[in-house]
Amino acid sequence: MSDNGLFLTLEGIDGAGKSSHLDALEALFKAQGRTVVRTREPGGTPLAETLRGLILKKPMDPLTESLLVFAARRDHIVQVIEPALARGDVVLCDRFTDATFAYQGAGRGFDNTVLSTLEQWVQAQAGSAKLLQPQVTLWFDLAPEIAAQRLAGARVPDKFEAQPVEFFRRVAQGYADRASADARRFVRIDASQTREQVWQQIESELAARGVLAGGGDR
Ligand code: TYD
Repeated sequence: MSDNGLFLTLEGIDGAGKSSHLDALEALFKAQGRTVVRTREPGGTPLAETLRGLILKKPMDPLTESLLVFAARRDHIVQVIEPALARGDVVLCDRFTDATFAYQGAGRGFDNTVLSTLEQWVQAQAGSAKLLQPQVTLWFDLAPEIAAQRLAGARVPDKFEAQPVEFFRRVAQGYADRASADARRFVRIDASQTREQVWQQIESELAARGVLAGGGDR
């Protein structure tokens, strides 16, 4: 993999507002001359998008759901993410494996040990002992009650968005647990701020982590 490839993910409960910053993030990296591959999970390839439709609409048991999410992820990694990182591109991905631990693990109460095993199978990298993981994860942290208010009436909810606030309390705790287990990768964004303040925080955190040109030492 090229040293210059950057794998950046956005995470958070539904309604936390992460997707509204994707355009600006893409523009930020493009303005620096980077090639940006903007993608999402579940999804990002024709096969994975087909699986997304099933995952978000059809009722299924949590193991089936987890297997489909990781099957979609495997296709996405092989077809899109690894080739893009090998070219040195910026991969901007709306959700990744942290969402599986948060939604299927914490939210639905599925076994984290099984999820960790699937993570190891799916994110194994040829010729490396390290798993494929994002370099930086922007975690949009927002109280589930506020997220629910923001989502109310916005659109027809999918299977997850239709869950009660209690589900999202567990999902939020799942994200908090993942973040404390990997504090170097996670950037906690205070998503209760105004949209402009959120954007300013994103820019300054990325600069501080040295992932923007010239931003490393200032
Ligand atoms: P989301 O990313 O919010 O997309 P949109 O903004 O188009 O609704 O929706 C994806 C949903 O899928 C979200 O509710 C979280 C869920 N999800 C999982 O349950 N597990 C996963 O591993 C991933 C990636 C997403």
